[in-house]
Formats: sequence, structure tokens, C-alpha cells
Amino acid sequence: MNIQRIEEFRITLDQKKAIQQLFAECFPGYPKGRTYFKQLPNFRYLVFQGELLIAHLAVEHRMIALDQIPYSIFGVVDICVDAQFRKQNIAANLLKQLEELGKDNSIDFIILTASDNQLYLNNGYQIKSNTCRWLFINDHQTLGVKNHHLSEALLVKSLGDKEWSAGIVDFLGTVF
Ligand SMILES: CC(C)(COP(=O)(O)OP(=O)(O)OC[C@H]1O[C@@H](n2cnc3c(N)ncnc32)[C@H](O)[C@@H]1OP(=O)(O)O)[C@@H](O)C(=O)NCCC(=O)NCCS
Repeated sequence: MNIQRIEEFRITLDQKKAIQQLFAECFPGYPKGRTYFKQLPNFRYLVFQGELLIAHLAVEHRMIALDQIPYSIFGVVDICVDAQFRKQNIAANLLKQLEELGKDNSIDFIILTASDNQLYLNNGYQIKSNTCRWLFINDHQTLGVKNHHLSEALLVKSLGDKEWSAGIVDFLGTVF
């Protein structure tokens, strides 16, 4: 198994096609022919078994504001593993690699939103229920700003000594 971390602008056409194919299998209803839901990430982890792409995790590196205090975060997007390779800790391993990268580079938190929390709880994430504000984008159109209470849908892991508070989270961009 070969894990690569690639900046988004370096992703080749063949890699894009492989990501689209994996998304079509893992995320029913994902916009066809796209490798991103709202906006391009900054970098991705791609896991190959031979030539076959079997797992993916995209990351947005961004500032957010929590209770008006700015923090640097990694936002996890579109984590998925080919159905034939699940339950072998591949997703957990990708989260661990991202965590080490974040710790080495003074990132404050890893955050994401999810309806099924199990993978993240297994890996030391905490469930939070903050009110959040984000840029609402649909199909390449900015439609406004959303304010919404995310009840038990926000997953957070602190990578240093910063503590997550119960204040308003301003995503300063789209939601993950
Ligand atoms: C979620 C997913 C990436 C896990 O990959 P994986 O390599 O099998 O994960 P690991 O082996 O590291 O861990 C398995 C754990 O993930 C949990 N899990 C399964 N599907 C999950 C999901 N959709 N969301 C969160 N956790 C999930 C399992 O319950 C399991 O926990 P358990 O061992 O306590 O039962 C994979 O099931 C997948 O690609 N699902 C379809 C895409 C998806 O839903 N992605 C998550 C978007 S938030």
C-alpha cells in the first residue's frame, strides 16, 4: 500500500479520474465528474494498492474564528475507502498522518462535520454542538451566509494546548 500526500494543483488528470471513480462508489449523489463538493482543497492523501486508488482524504488549511479568536485548522473533507478495503484502519491511519502533519506545523485543530461519528470518536475526536457561520455555496454560486446550530455534528481534535470553547464558530469560508 502506497500513501501519497499531494498538493491540489499537482493532481494529474488520471488521478482526478480515479478520485471521481472512488467518490462515485463511496458517496452516492456526489456531483458527477467533480473531485470537490464546494471548493478545491489544499492537498489530498491518496492511497494506492498497486495502480488502484483505494482511499482518499482531502484537507483544507484555513483560519477559522471561534468566539472571535482566530485559529489555524485543517478541515477534513471527503474521507473514503474502497468498500473492499474497509475495516483495516486505513481511514484511521490517514487521520493519524494528518494529525502528525498538523502537530509538526503548529496547526491548532483538525475539524470536520459528519453525521456518523464512530470513526472520529475511535480516533480521539470530540463531538461539539456550536452555532456555526459559513459561506453558503451551491454549484459554483455564492448564495449567502448561513448561521446554524450544528447539534452533535461538529468533530474537533485539538493538536496543541488550545481549548475549544462553546462560542460561535465562523468558518471564514464554506463548511467542510
Ligand atoms: C468511513 C470510512 C472512510 C471508514 O474507512 P475504514 O478504513 O473502514 O475505517 P477504519 O478501518 O479506520 O475504522 C472503521 C470504523 O469506521 C466506522 N465507520 C464506518 N462507516 C462510517 C461512516 N460513514 N462515518 C464514520 N465512521 C464510520 C466503523 O464503525 C468502524 O468503527 P468500529 O471499528 O468501532 O466499528 C469508510 O467506511 C467509507 O469510505 N465510507 C463511505 C464514505 C463515507 O461515509 N465517508 C465518511 C464521510 S464523513
